Amino acid sequence: MPSHHTPLHQAAAEAVAAATGVLATDLKVEAPPRAEMGDLAVGCFAIAKAQGKNPAQVAQEVAAKFAPTDLLASATAAGPFVNFKANRQATLRWVVDATLQGKLLPREHGAGKTITIDYGSPNISKHLAYHHIRGTTIGHALAQSFRALGYNVVGINFLGDWGTTHGMVIAAYYDQLSGKKLTVDEIQNLSVTVEQLNQLYVAFRAKYKDTTVAEDRGRAYLKMLEDGDAEVTALWQKFRDVSWAEFEEVYKVLDIEYDDLNGESFFWKDGERIAAELEKRGLLVESEGAKVVELEGEKTPILLLTKDGTTLYATRDVAAAEYREKTYHPTRSLYVVDRGQATHFRQLFKLLAKTGHGWASRLQHVPYGLVRVGGKKTGTRLGNVVLMREVFTIAEQEVRARIAEVNPNLPPDVVDKVAPQVGIGAVIFANLAPQRDKDIDFELDKAVSLDGDSGPYLQYSHARCASIGRKANETVTSIDGVDFAKLSHDAEWAVAKKLLEFPEIVVRSTDNAEPHVIAHYLLDLAGEFSRWYTLGNADATLRVLVDDADVRRARLALVAAVQATLREGLSLLGMAAPDQM
Ligand code: ARG
Repeated sequence: MPSHHTPLHQAAAEAVAAATGVLATDLKVEAPPRAEMGDLAVGCFAIAKAQGKNPAQVAQEVAAKFAPTDLLASATAAGPFVNFKANRQATLRWVVDATLQGKLLPREHGAGKTITIDYGSPNISKHLAYHHIRGTTIGHALAQSFRALGYNVVGINFLGDWGTTHGMVIAAYYDQLSGKKLTVDEIQNLSVTVEQLNQLYVAFRAKYKDTTVAEDRGRAYLKMLEDGDAEVTALWQKFRDVSWAEFEEVYKVLDIEYDDLNGESFFWKDGERIAAELEKRGLLVESEGAKVVELEGEKTPILLLTKDGTTLYATRDVAAAEYREKTYHPTRSLYVVDRGQATHFRQLFKLLAKTGHGWASRLQHVPYGLVRVGGKKTGTRLGNVVLMREVFTIAEQEVRARIAEVNPNLPPDVVDKVAPQVGIGAVIFANLAPQRDKDIDFELDKAVSLDGDSGPYLQYSHARCASIGRKANETVTSIDGVDFAKLSHDAEWAVAKKLLEFPEIVVRSTDNAEPHVIAHYLLDLAGEFSRWYTLGNADATLRVLVDDADVRRARLALVAAVQATLREGLSLLGMAAPDQM
């Protein structure tokens, strides 16, 4: 099924294809604007144009030629569209069965394709602040989603551990020792924290404000690093280790494991070779002592070597891009990095294309907007750093309070397990649900709410499905013995139709690198489920756990399918799905 991800969609496309002689894969199958109109719609504009007919006429011909299939019951023309109605019973059977078997998503969709995703990629000697987490959660959600579709995913953390900044941190550290020399052994035994390093760096910048002293000294230490000075290298290594230990804690909390940890320091050595190649092609020119390449349509050139001959961010990115191409042969190579770096990536890709790398067209900057906390842009420069550890802890405390309100009888050991899962889930979801490239305001109250458009609401919906199964004392894990004719209510059909959308949603989310598409879908699914489920409050015959064993089993099967889809969807977003909360 190349472009239609369920047999129902495929059947609709084939019905139109058979009647008109076009290819089923060229047809778009959509949802009609209103449910009464039908379950699926195919527009006939393109076919009509190609065949010199009018679209309404084509739609009528298709409807007239239609013969029911296993899954499709009827077709009617509505203006330029053909609207199809599904055979509900057969479709319900298919979708519940596929879901319970874990086969609703097209697992072979990405088979044989490799995607590299550069995400997170923080700078060392700085805390992981709030805005980093946005890129980290987006990258992780994309990695999970591509994996679920069968792609080979390489998650890359391109640690920012090389460059003048790190020379400055070293300079600042030596200053505070007032000239005291340290041996390599002493350096290895130093106890130093990221907090201290960041403070030293900020004070160092402030001290030399409005001069070039800080930069000059930083470059000098970078030169010593690149020349292999033993003490300076040991100090850099120490700062890197300390930083990584702190980052790793956060990655653990988010359940992130990277596949490739080659940071900037891994690539600086390629600078000379890259410069030589550009020189040979006559592309490298001197500008104010530095080496640059002019690019078409760019106001500023791309900087590749400083006047001391040390590499720059762009040089190391050129080397990293070549390495990734050579090592992984990706079909797509994504850089999930904040919008502020758009120029850098545009120039990087242009440079690679200019040097004859055809694969440069497969590289893509996936920009995301900033996160404001308390109305301000969060960044370490702003001083009011919001530490990720603190954000998670505060979210967890808030969640505890809410659980105590709605579910005071939850055993304490369960609360201890679930509160961090939901607190972290709340933070993840608040980062993912808004459109990727939009700036967002992080509002804690909204994020941890159990009933708004929040992560905890989704987790709560999942737990509710699980609790129905527990109350029923009957877990439905397959469609054996389920009579789908018993699911005859429109609200049940609405839930099934939502489930049918899941494959298309995940494919679209990966194609466009937009995890919010999945986030919104899950809210819709939880909403449809809730509409159906709460009908039972007014009309006892519509409850899931009715006395009639056949009706009950059929409804439990649908609940189980919703639960499985919520669980999978949450896992695509990097969120846990506790069974009770
Ligand atoms: N370290 C950079 C930063 O914190 C992000 C690196 C993104 N990845 C890349 N290949 N340039 O802003």
